[in-house]
Amino acid sequence: MDKLLVGGGRSLQGEISISGAKNATLPILAGVLLASESVTLSNVPHLKDVTTTIALLQSMGVQVTVDDKLNISVDGSEITDRRAPYDLVKTMRASILVLGPLVARYGEADVSLPGGCAIGSRPVNLHVQGLQAMGADVVIENGYIKARAKRLHGAHIVFDTVTVTGTENLLMAATLAAGETILENAAREPEIIDLAEFLISMGAKITGHGSSMIRIQGVKRLGGTEYAVMPDRIETGTYLVAAAITRGNIRLKRTSADYLEAVIIKLQEAGAKIHHGEGWIELDMKGRRPRAVDVRTLPYPAFPTDMQAQFCAMNAMSEGVGTVTETIFENRFQHVLELQRMGADIRLEGNMAISKGVKRLTSAPVMATDLRASAGLILAGLAAEGETLVDRIYHVDRGYERIEEKLQQLGASIRRVMN
Ligand code: UD1
Repeated sequence: MDKLLVGGGRSLQGEISISGAKNATLPILAGVLLASESVTLSNVPHLKDVTTTIALLQSMGVQVTVDDKLNISVDGSEITDRRAPYDLVKTMRASILVLGPLVARYGEADVSLPGGCAIGSRPVNLHVQGLQAMGADVVIENGYIKARAKRLHGAHIVFDTVTVTGTENLLMAATLAAGETILENAAREPEIIDLAEFLISMGAKITGHGSSMIRIQGVKRLGGTEYAVMPDRIETGTYLVAAAITRGNIRLKRTSADYLEAVIIKLQEAGAKIHHGEGWIELDMKGRRPRAVDVRTLPYPAFPTDMQAQFCAMNAMSEGVGTVTETIFENRFQHVLELQRMGADIRLEGNMAISKGVKRLTSAPVMATDLRASAGLILAGLAAEGETLVDRIYHVDRGYERIEEKLQQLGASIRRVMN
């Protein structure tokens, strides 16, 4: 199993490019199932979760080709299988995103229930209830969600909880339903805007995306399109924290500060100087140790849960006391236990991690437990004394494209060790 060996103590300097957003690519790839013609996607990140989604689509009979510029052409106009098997779904919960498109287009879907997850129970009840409200018959049998519908119809759906993939699933389903669907208390994440724009480019009629009320007027058919995926705001935020934690000065290209306000405000509170313009963002810590900050995760536009592990790592070596409160997922603090093994002074109280910054973290062998937790541990390793060995980094490969190459480009000492 691959591990990353991270040498601490070097200040990150220089510039790198940010990849396309994982959490926009996955729903967009699922959305291809709605199209009656071929779709070409650019700025698709090369990630394990993307290859898993492509494998899932191919298992259904979707044709996928990649050209020399790494643009991906996907033809889901005719599929042979309407099943998402357990073997693929268990490695990536986002496979649930094929449920809405399959029922909407083919009237039939068998999608394995995702099962347990390292960051809490993460149910999919709201996806299922929404499809039922749109007229689907849904049963749970042999570990599968089996949904059937002649043609879905529009519905007025009010989500109990703000759910990102739940909003995406029903948004996609509604594009081909008969009549109007209104999604209330919808998630407002930028990736939902990207998905909606992609669907609109195929002929869908959607308004209100980016707000908590989305209206979809169903159409009979969606055509092909060419679409460029938005930049990854979580990857962007992760490298900004990497620079802050190492007291460095970096410039990130092919990205945007537009969707990162909550993260940028907290980095400024920590003492970072941040500048940005069209397509770029710069962070300069001017060689200073960050100040600890208080963050609380909430749905967009508030502070993202996918950035909390990175801030736990930063608070661990910052000046003063800081808190990280997790309100989206239960059990998303495994990285804290690993940070403690690196000398961090962090106390867990319910859903809050209270951290008294230490001057120096020390290296230790640590274990990545989920995607963002692994990013947090790598960042801690960059700031620690000595060499930190981060195990189980297949988690990080799910969501960060060429992380060690990009960090090396910024001057970090990091290499992949295989055994
Ligand atoms: C998505 C992101 C993930 C991010 C998360 C929160 C993708 C592929 N993944 O995950 O990176 O961490 O949003 O920003 O985009 N819930 C229910 N019932 C449901 C669905 C969700 O109770 O049917 C609850 C969950 O348990 C959780 C909360 O809603 O407490 C939010 O989860 P959700 O937004 O659905 O997360 P994901 O879409 O799985």
